[in-house]
Amino acid sequence: MKNILVTGGAGYIGSHIVRDLGENSYNPIILDNLSEGHREACAGKEFVLASINDTEALDAVFSEKNIDAVMHFSAFAYVGESVTNPEKYYLNNLSATVNLLSVMRKYDVQKFIFSSSCATYGNPVYIPMDEQHPQNPINPYGRTKFMVEKIIDDYRAAYGLRYIALRYFNAAGAHPDGSIGESHRIETHLIPLVLKAISGEKDRISILGSDYPTPDGTCIRDYIAVTDLAAAHRAALELLLSGGESACVNLGTEHGYSVKEVISACEEVTGKKAPVITAPRRAGDPPELVAKTSLAKKLLGFTAKKTDIRDIISNAWQWEQTRRY
Ligand SMILES: NC(=O)c1ccc[n+]([C@@H]2O[C@H](COP(=O)([O-])OP(=O)(O)OC[C@H]3O[C@@H](n4cnc5c(N)ncnc54)[C@H](O)[C@@H]3O)[C@@H](O)[C@H]2O)c1
Repeated sequence: MKNILVTGGAGYIGSHIVRDLGENSYNPIILDNLSEGHREACAGKEFVLASINDTEALDAVFSEKNIDAVMHFSAFAYVGESVTNPEKYYLNNLSATVNLLSVMRKYDVQKFIFSSSCATYGNPVYIPMDEQHPQNPINPYGRTKFMVEKIIDDYRAAYGLRYIALRYFNAAGAHPDGSIGESHRIETHLIPLVLKAISGEKDRISILGSDYPTPDGTCIRDYIAVTDLAAAHRAALELLLSGGESACVNLGTEHGYSVKEVISACEEVTGKKAPVITAPRRAGDPPELVAKTSLAKKLLGFTAKKTDIRDIISNAWQWEQTRRY
């Protein structure tokens, strides 16, 4: 069984990938400092409570386990906070990642899967956005992801690292069995926010801007099911394990939903009305972000299965109603 070190495996996306790896004959080893994640999300899995900044802890893991590849999810991911406190992001997303890469190099672990983001593109020049789209990130969070992409490419050229950087669009949904799902300390993602407004956990959902140049005036985003993300990560891992070359690959569905469409779909799935108010635009929100996904299909043989937003919302709603963390 291959040992896969999963940094940030107690977080939202990482926990779904850990589950998928375990179900597909890999041995995931989670390393997470629980700054954002949840111990309950890793039930029954090998877990190391440590930061990727902690060289000693990394040394212990790499020397004791024969690590075949690293999947690197750990990062801070609040765009707004990255603007007000960029240092926190440069330290954790950038310099801690270099520490991880340095320890990997010491133990000659050369396969790396990186959680990148469509935030590396910045404002779209054309839609759908392919991997050749110009990368001009517009906030420190996006810049950390962009810079790590450049760093791992330098490691490739100089030290032979092989990597797949997966540029996620909007991760959404939950595991269909309801046992793991999205639970961020500060929730900024649309679907959980709408569902919390519907369940009464939040007073209302604010539509941030209704005068965008889109058909209904609200922002359009490409939502990919977290279980589809898991399948794509496994395909990327298999590609690296079988000798595949490094690449940056978009993960999305090639279909966008507006904020209003997502709210309507949440109402349809739950059978309840969402209390909605319209608020001013938030700085730095592009009108539309939709992925071109042909490279994922070509390189990874991956196409998202859950393309109807109602299926994604239905899993998220089940999770919202029963969640334990
Ligand atoms: N959620 C999305 O839509 C989305 C989109 C694009 C990219 N991403 C990226 O995907 C990754 C996972 O996102 P998520 O939504 O699951 O976030 P999350 O906050 O739920 O998970 C991140 C995990 O990393 C851990 N962590 C943070 N710093 C650490 C450190 N120094 N050492 C060890 N563990 C640490 C946290 O405790 C948490 O468990 C992040 O890198 C994020 O930037 C997410």
